[in-house]
Amino acid sequence: MSLKDKLIAEKLPRHIAIIMDGNGRWAKEKGKDRLFGHYNGVESVRNIVEGCAELGIGYLTLYAFSTENWDRPKDEVTGLMELLVKTIRGEVATLNKNNIRLHVIGNIDMLPANAHDELNEACEETKTNTGLNLIMALSYSSRWEILNAVKNIATEIRTGNIQPNEITDEVFQQHLCTADFPDPELMIRTSGEYRISNFLLYQLAYSELYFTDTLWPDFRKENLYEALLDYQMRERRFGKTSEQV
Ligand code: IPE
Ligand code: IPE
Ligand code: MG
Repeated sequence: MSLKDKLIAEKLPRHIAIIMDGNGRWAKEKGKDRLFGHYNGVESVRNIVEGCAELGIGYLTLYAFSTENWDRPKDEVTGLMELLVKTIRGEVATLNKNNIRLHVIGNIDMLPANAHDELNEACEETKTNTGLNLIMALSYSSRWEILNAVKNIATEIRTGNIQPNEITDEVFQQHLCTADFPDPELMIRTSGEYRISNFLLYQLAYSELYFTDTLWPDFRKENLYEALLDYQMRERRFGKTSEQV
């Protein structure tokens, strides 16, 4: 029985979030420069997007570039940005063919204007697709997102649109970049790092976390199935007792 056949369809997460990490180390192991790792990471993205679409997963969020990543050496930042935007543009036809809708979350105002426009176009061109929602976190950081939500809510209070006692979990959630998406049930990080690195801090409150030593450019559908099998073994209690759930 293959790993995929062992998966229980009713117990699949609706939303998977992935910190795609380890491109640089993967390239270094091969004596190549870091960008070589990023180029090879794209193949993993294709494979995992396809894998999620085949499984009927509703939402896949990929952390592709953090706000903090802007502080990397200029050559790497420029090369990575070009790669990301070029790849997204180049994949639109495939996304449409596979009924995948693209979303981008993050501070994309920090991107060069042409990149910004290309991303918006790609999202626009896939917006009627009803299958997998592919959410690219680009120039994203969770603290930026949360502070932004706070600022926007504060403005609404000042204009009288909302009262402080009306700020519920629901209202707050609606001010995040992920307003349209459910919280991830499963968060995967590759490359053997055990941290969140400013990713979806609010949304991951009750996510199951899965860490693997596999470096992102080596991560393929089989690795995804392993993560999903591990997830399916877990008991999600949300603060209750085992007997209650
Ligand atoms: C993940 O790989 C991709 C990005 C952060 C853009 P890294 O580039 O962080 O690779 P390592 O962690 O240095 O190996
Ligand atoms: C997190 O990886 C960001 C992305 C994968 C896009 P980093 O490699 O930047 O995170 P740290 O620096 O190891 O925490
Ligand atoms: Mg890294």
